[in-house]
Formats: sequence, C-alpha cells, structure tokens
Amino acid sequence: MTATRQAVLFSESNNLYTAKPVNVASVPQRSSFRYPGGKTWFVPAFREWMSHKYQKPKKLIEPFAGGGIISLTALFENHVQCAVMVELDEDVAAVWQSVVSGNGPWLADRILSFKLSRESVISELSTPAVEIKERAFQTILKNRTFHGGVLAKGSGLIKLGENGKGIRSRWYPKTLAKRLLNLEKVSSRIDFRSEDGLKVMRDFSDRKDAVFFIDPPYTAGGKKAGKRLYKYCDIDHEELFAICEALRGDFLITYDNADEVKDLARSHGFSMRLIPMKNTHHAKMQELVIGRDLSWMDQLQALINQKCESKT
Ligand SMILES: C[S@@+](CC[C@H](N)C(=O)[O-])C[C@H]1O[C@@H](n2cnc3c(N)ncnc32)[C@H](O)[C@@H]1O
Repeated sequence: MTATRQAVLFSESNNLYTAKPVNVASVPQRSSFRYPGGKTWFVPAFREWMSHKYQKPKKLIEPFAGGGIISLTALFENHVQCAVMVELDEDVAAVWQSVVSGNGPWLADRILSFKLSRESVISELSTPAVEIKERAFQTILKNRTFHGGVLAKGSGLIKLGENGKGIRSRWYPKTLAKRLLNLEKVSSRIDFRSEDGLKVMRDFSDRKDAVFFIDPPYTAGGKKAGKRLYKYCDIDHEELFAICEALRGDFLITYDNADEVKDLARSHGFSMRLIPMKNTHHAKMQELVIGRDLSWMDQLQALINQKCESKT
C-alpha cells in the first residue's frame, strides 16, 4: 500500500460519522456494567454493519465481552439468534454466569436491598464470596463504586465522584435492577464461556454463519491502557490477526489508533477506518475499526455527504 493511499484511508473526509462522535445517551444501556473501554459508542456502527449483511448471521461471537453491550444489542434487536460471549476475568464472568443461570432476579433483589455506605461496601467486599451469584454481586458493587469502574488491582473506591456524591455517583439500584430483570428476555440466547477468547475464535473459525466482534485489551506496541484497566491483558496480537484471517465468518476489530496495529492490519490485507468517539473524560478521540471489507462504511459516508449537499 502506498503512502498516498494510506493518507487517503485515514484522511478526515474518509471517516465514518465525521460530524461528531456518537451521543452514547441515545443508545439503550442494557448492561449492568459501566465498563472501562466499553463499546456503547460503537452501537450505531454495529447496527449499520448488520444492516449491510446480505444474509442475516446466526451467531455473534464476542471473544472479549467485558460489559457485553454489543452482544446485548445484537440479541435485543434480533440481529442474530444467539451470542457467544467470552470473558476471562472471573469476576466479570461471575455476572454473566449468574445472568445465564437465571440468577438475574436474585441479583436485582440483592442490589435493591443493599444499604450503600463506605463502610457497607468495604465490609461486603472483604467477605469472601462462596457462590457465583455472590461474586457477581460483589463485582457489580465494585464496578459501580470504584474509580472508572476499574476492577483490576490498584483501583479503589471513588472519593469525590460526580457532584460530590462520592461512592453513590454511579450506584443506581433501581436502574441496575431493571436492567438485570430485562436481561431475562435474552439470557437463554447467550452462550457464555469463561475461556480464552482466541481459543473460542478458533472453535468457531469454520462457521460461515457467524460474525465476530473483537474488542481486545489495548496493549499492542506496549500501550499501557489495557494493563491498567484489566486483570487479563496479555494478548498475542499477531496471533489474533492470524486467526482473523482464517475466519470464514465476517469480523470487525476495534482498536486504538496505534501504528503497530495498523502495520499488523496491513500485513494481513485488512481494511481500516477511523471512527470518532469520546473517552470517559469526554475528550474526542479516534478509534480504529479493522475488517475484511469496510466499504459499507464508505457507502454510509457517501449517503451522509449526499444528504448534506441536498440541504445546502
Ligand atoms: C476492551 S475490553 C472489552 C469491552 C467490551 N467490548 C465492552 O463493550 O464492554 C477487553 C476485555 O477482554 C478481557 N480479556 C482479556 N484477555 C482475554 C482473553 N484472553 N480471553 C477473553 N477475554 C479476555 C478483559 O478482561 C476485558 O474485559
């Protein structure tokens, strides 16, 4: 690929949704997590991807599920029949295992009846969880009362929080309970696996009727974000791209805009586009979307441009 071609690929005018980043408040929040590196902002692009599928895929495979917003959206909006969600972190896994095993209502009750204070959180989190559903409750509690929702070592309780609300800043018991109860509608269509995402991608690599949404921890090229945010972050990125090349089903990878990642994508002959988003500090950033054929993104951009021209 020539330098000129790269410049065009990554030029502003060739980006999807150049006008402004997606307003995440307009996307239905279905997950009980406020997940670090969560992909709520990607939901509109995901819908667009699905709408361009000539044949509706049967399964969505999400090998790095985290808060799982893309799988949940795919299920609630019937883009696929079922979602294979994979997550290695045992605490995060406990939440999905509880949802899938019918303990969502138990979790909802537990959240509603918990009297939140600094002391009660510290006391609850220092009690070893015996059952998976208890571990799930502790995960949700941590995710909602720790800085940035970060569950990895080194994270701690919110001190000031939003508007000085401290640890209550992100604790919305009624909303969380409602989301957990709502998940009952799709839980039988979730195939949750607490395994290595790369292994599960290989397991489904022959499935033509599967699509893969791949959102790995961002650690390529020595990037620190993935290490700070997640307990498990050591990914063999080269291997991930090699598996993608062998997939029979279509896939999308989201990544931070790093040179190492672009090099990997080029060496495998994949397409790339930049997409604007706002990070948790509301700073505008661009994330990389990688796939086999991303022309649907350009078609959409052409449509947006056409609409703009006809308005002027
Ligand atoms: C960028 S986050 C995914 C965020 C998710 N897309 C969302 O919207 O919430 C990456 C996730 O991959 C998980 N993870 C890291 N290594 C993994 C592995 N080998 N297999 C499965 N999951 C892994 C991390 O624990 C983390 O939850």
